Amino acid sequence: MAFSPNGSGPLPCGRTYTPAHASRSHFGCLPDLEDLLRGVFFERANLTEGSGCPPGTPEAPPDGAARFSARRVAGRDREAHMSDEDNGEYRKGHFFILLAIGLALGICTLDILSPLQGAVAVLYTSVIVLVGLTHRQAPIVMAAAGCASLAIAGYCASHWGAPLGSPAMRLGVSLVALMITTVLVLRQLREVEERERADARYRTIFAAGGFPIWESDWSGAHGLLHKGHPIDACTVELAFAAAFVKNANLAAACLFGFERREDLVGRSLLELATPATSEALVRIYEALMHGASSVEEETRFVSRTGREFDILLQVTIPPDHDGWKRILIMGADITERKRAQERLAAAQIELAHISRVTILGELAASIAHEVNQPLTATITYARSAARWLAREAPDAHEVSECLSAITANAERAAQVIARIRDLARNSDVRHAQISLSTLIAETLELVQREMTTKGVTLTLNIESDLPPVTGDKVQLQQVLLNLLINARQAMLDTPEERRHLTVRAFRKAEKHIAVEVHDTGHGLAAGQDNLFTPFFTTKRDGMGMGFAICRTIMGQHEGSIEARSNAKGGATFVFVLPMKTDHVHGGSEGLVPQH
Ligand SMILES: Nc1ncnc2c1ncn2[C@@H]1O[C@H](COP(=O)(O)OP(=O)(O)OP(=O)(O)O)[C@@H](O)[C@H]1O
Ligand SMILES: [Mg+2]
Repeated sequence: MAFSPNGSGPLPCGRTYTPAHASRSHFGCLPDLEDLLRGVFFERANLTEGSGCPPGTPEAPPDGAARFSARRVAGRDREAHMSDEDNGEYRKGHFFILLAIGLALGICTLDILSPLQGAVAVLYTSVIVLVGLTHRQAPIVMAAAGCASLAIAGYCASHWGAPLGSPAMRLGVSLVALMITTVLVLRQLREVEERERADARYRTIFAAGGFPIWESDWSGAHGLLHKGHPIDACTVELAFAAAFVKNANLAAACLFGFERREDLVGRSLLELATPATSEALVRIYEALMHGASSVEEETRFVSRTGREFDILLQVTIPPDHDGWKRILIMGADITERKRAQERLAAAQIELAHISRVTILGELAASIAHEVNQPLTATITYARSAARWLAREAPDAHEVSECLSAITANAERAAQVIARIRDLARNSDVRHAQISLSTLIAETLELVQREMTTKGVTLTLNIESDLPPVTGDKVQLQQVLLNLLINARQAMLDTPEERRHLTVRAFRKAEKHIAVEVHDTGHGLAAGQDNLFTPFFTTKRDGMGMGFAICRTIMGQHEGSIEARSNAKGGATFVFVLPMKTDHVHGGSEGLVPQH
């Protein structure tokens, strides 16, 4: 799928996204699917009022500080629970107590009047169990005491004055049974209370948490995906349409542009999706279908108010999930972070560009020479051609030869200028298949004269059949230029006859290619561990950005760069790049002649 992560872009099923679509689903497999599904899935969680976005959140009202209080929301939760649920519980409790009193009186009557010789008093345990349903400790204890008294009273009424025998034994058994039942019911009550307290605690954390968190019902998506549909754009669209928010905290509501949690609950987030959301969902569904229980994905939504924002989603399936009925999603608004990253990347590109232009400035003489050579040749051939033409019998063959040479030299000059223009331009990074041997040869052409005038002898040693790499040509050229210029500068104090520069390129391990620049300069001083730190320089007019830029470029190419001192003096810098993965052997130019 080719969605554009921001702005307008194509959507699955041939529809086009514009931010204006955000108010309504822009997916198109089943236009009215949401309405249909909303009817089926609409299940508002038992939430209570909580409105007003926290100050500082993107959707916060201007006077957000006055309106938001997480504690107030949590407090309101509790009050609402008290008013609705507790009233019901209280009435239910009354009912159970009345029922229990009736039952106890019935058992007592049966115990006194019945001619049966059984332990009727044991039946009082059912009274305790009944009162236990009120989930209150005092009624249970009072019921236990009352039942014990009734059992003793029943015994006295039927067997007063009789010698102690089996009736007394039956009374004892009944009292023990009552006691055990009471202890068990009280223990169960304590467990229920603890569970309720934990639930309340988690509810408070959920509601008052400052980070967006919501619970979604993805059972519709689960059903669809587990029917074996391929995870393509349309399936994802339908699956997402079938997913509904079951519960959400205020921060989540505010993130999506709602003032109250209830406004988000029951919705499908489909209507707030962007093309980037669909891309992320494909990855999320794929991960979940492959058995992941937690997935992290960056994506983009558009809020109800039309604000597009980047979000980092953490989608978690609880261990006891029942067909993705309760998917927990946490979101972090990373819009600002993304913008900062983009600004940083732009600054890095700009810095690299400035550094390249600086290098070109240093190489101006060399470049001028490089361009001048074919121009001089062009002029010479043009004059020759003119002379051949000026003869009494013009020699067409010689003139043609001259014209061919003029063309070749002009093309050569044009190539050099094009290469320099590429380096000078601040163009976008473009990764393509690159032959390192060609890149090295072209780069050396730019510094060739500079080296010659400084008495540096250059040796080029490139392994044959070197596979290509993937990368940005201008950036990789910049790395090599940096190393070459540094090497030349490091050799300025070396006696001329010992100024040697060797450039090697060879396979390293199985999947990498190394490019090595070896010089006979002053070498690395001890403690120069921070060579790659921005602005580290030992040069009077150095900026100290050369290696920092090299390292950033290598990072962007999944490569590495390192430096070491040579045993016999000087330093060696080597950068390593991964080979192009689908490389077919035999595609490179082979050995480049040694200079
Ligand atoms: N071939 C080398 N031999 C010895 N030391 C070197 C060599 N190349 C670089 N260095 C050391 O590393 C330091 C950092 O180099 P880097 O290219 O990052 O910055 P710079 O050359 O000082 O300035 P600029 O930003 O203009 O390139 C240099 O100042 C120098 O001390
Ligand atoms: Mg440098």
